[in-house]
Amino acid sequence: MAAKDFSRIEDDYLFFMQSSTEAEADRTAHLATLRANFTANDSVHYLDFGCGAGHFTESLLSQWGHEPAALTCTLVEPVARHLHEAAERVRDFSHQEVLTCTEIDDIAFGSYDLLLANHSCYYVECATTVARRLTAALRPGGTGILAIAGNDNFLIQMWQTGFAACGMSVPWWVAEDYRSVLNETCVSVQRRDVPYQILFSDTAEQRMKLLRFLFADHLPQLDLTILMQQLDRVSNNGMVDIRTSSQHLVFRV
Ligand SMILES: C[S@@+](CC[C@H](N)C(=O)[O-])C[C@H]1O[C@@H](n2cnc3c(N)ncnc32)[C@H](O)[C@@H]1O
Repeated sequence: MAAKDFSRIEDDYLFFMQSSTEAEADRTAHLATLRANFTANDSVHYLDFGCGAGHFTESLLSQWGHEPAALTCTLVEPVARHLHEAAERVRDFSHQEVLTCTEIDDIAFGSYDLLLANHSCYYVECATTVARRLTAALRPGGTGILAIAGNDNFLIQMWQTGFAACGMSVPWWVAEDYRSVLNETCVSVQRRDVPYQILFSDTAEQRMKLLRFLFADHLPQLDLTILMQQLDRVSNNGMVDIRTSSQHLVFRV
């Protein structure tokens, strides 16, 4: 499977984040899960897999308000500059030094009380290997949260249509690729659908920002007419208005 280099699409990713309620919806749902599973003074070793530059992690930890003396953070992110920024952003939420890794191979086994992979697991080399490795990273009784869109998500359907039109397979993974492995390896797996909206003025420039975020380096190989037809379906009164949802898979080992 191909990687997706977020250092090359920073502005387009920012546009997506600013045009969508996805982060707010994810954060609200994650906070409910965290509060249901941990009290403020529980000792928690937290693993954030694919944290990017740490904006989401920072906002989540800030709103969670967990006791810093009881929190240790490990961050995994392949873009080294973003990993460094994320560690700076998260520093004040933990009394201990923030641990950082660029690869999943560097994380510990059986060690983490809480694991979050917030929209990062699309882009790994092998979904099965990563699902097994992430569950093995949790300590017995630990909680994992995998936020990822599935085949019912409009953007995933754009991937499917866009790549298929050029005779290519989607080079990234979706929720369905993880669910069966998690069901095999975990004590429990719960699925929650989290709705969100993407809304922006329907201009050629803004459409291209969304497409660059979605397809990254693959975009020049794809048929723009087909992709624009997909966006025509969600264009109304001068706005692109996408109502869709992603999945939160909450698992315990
Ligand atoms: C959509 S962003 C999500 C960032 C952050 N979790 C958030 O919610 O804002 C996807 C992130 O996954 C990271 N990523 C890509 N390939 C990865 C891999 N193989 N392992 C871990 N993270 C990866 C990207 O670099 C990027 O930071």
